[in-house]
Amino acid sequence: MRARLKYAALLAYGRYRALRRENVRFRGAFGSFDEAIANVRPGLMAGYDHDRVTPVSREVMQQVPLWDFPILYWLKRLTPEITRLVDAGGHIGVKYRAFGPYLDLDCIDWIVYDLPSLVKAGRAQIRPQDRTLSFVDRIEEAPAADVLLASGLMPYLNEPLVDLVRRLRAPPRHILLNKVVTRDGPTVVTLENFGVAEVPYHIRNVGEVPAALETLGYDIIDSWTIDSLAHRIQTHPELGRAVYRGYVARLRS
Ligand SMILES: C[S@@+](CC[C@H](N)C(=O)[O-])C[C@H]1O[C@@H](n2cnc3c(N)ncnc32)[C@H](O)[C@@H]1O
Repeated sequence: MRARLKYAALLAYGRYRALRRENVRFRGAFGSFDEAIANVRPGLMAGYDHDRVTPVSREVMQQVPLWDFPILYWLKRLTPEITRLVDAGGHIGVKYRAFGPYLDLDCIDWIVYDLPSLVKAGRAQIRPQDRTLSFVDRIEEAPAADVLLASGLMPYLNEPLVDLVRRLRAPPRHILLNKVVTRDGPTVVTLENFGVAEVPYHIRNVGEVPAALETLGYDIIDSWTIDSLAHRIQTHPELGRAVYRGYVARLRS
């Protein structure tokens, strides 16, 4: 009874906030990426792939928050084995820049795969010291790599992870995923408020990524949660808290 009352109260509060059109970070709960896109508010851009979206959060992403350290640890640990890395959802090379002080990047051929607007911005902002950084907007064009890094990509990716990995020229030995947003129930797509745009944001069923890695023939050798990032969809708090996760997976030999 108490649980039902709590659910009803959360539901009513969320819909009240939606009705008031509060300027919340996450709005709506949709069944698919396309349904979310169809519900973007008039006057806002839909999705990530726009020139005016490329500066959003760029400075923050170029920092090394605590939740990046498991990824840094594994990159450092695997360094002798890594000569080439594909950074899917790598933005303008934000993690290449952020990790520069910690890794010998001159020894890693670092290829960012991202959407066309981000690739264009990344190429335009390349610095003289970015000697080993390059960009592709089709993952098929990236040469075979030792590592696939997808940090912060999964909430935005509008295709199954299995399909993305199978589009690579060859399966990488390691896959490093960070900021995979999960929930216990079915996958939902909400809209993230970027100010100038609303961007579909997947909160995936917790089993989805482990199942994809299993299908691809990978063993998960490390995983973690990022408790400080947990949040609810403000207009749908009854759907529960989203849990952020990271995984390191190794191709079965
Ligand atoms: C939040 S940023 C992550 C940036 C950085 N990797 C990090 O961890 O902070 C998400 C990135 O995913 C990219 N992205 C979204 N959908 C994508 C897709 N279908 N294919 C490739 N990149 C995509 C966005 O353009 C954006 O650069």
